[in-house]
Amino acid sequence: MARIEWLEEYSVGDAGIDRQHQDLFALIDRLDDASLDTSAMSVAFEKLDLYVNEHFRDEEDILKQVGYDDLDAHLRQHDEFRDWLNTAKASFKSEHGDNAAVGHNLQVFLKDWLLNHIIKTDQAYKSWLEGR
Ligand SMILES: [Fe+2]
Repeated sequence: MARIEWLEEYSVGDAGIDRQHQDLFALIDRLDDASLDTSAMSVAFEKLDLYVNEHFRDEEDILKQVGYDDLDAHLRQHDEFRDWLNTAKASFKSEHGDNAAVGHNLQVFLKDWLLNHIIKTDQAYKSWLEGR
């Protein structure tokens, strides 16, 4: 699968958050590697999990600081995603299936979710950040 390309239109008006989004793209890109064995996949999962949680926390802190009016809906999306990631991690640990397939499927979902979230949900707070 092609690498996820960063486009200027993805910017949410905060350099730190933009950088975290770019780092997430890079982490997701790395998942689709047919040579990943089980322990490498576990490491990739853990890294992603840590990074997602750190990023969501930072983003949520900023949105609270600026008094973003649609915070609850945004938090719900983050919570749903955290739940999904926990479930995916648990099933990866219990199944020990085809790592290449797991990595690929994971990447397809993550790419779709993250792009959608950044392009639609995150863009909605851009004007709040720019008005700081
Ligand atoms: Fe977000």
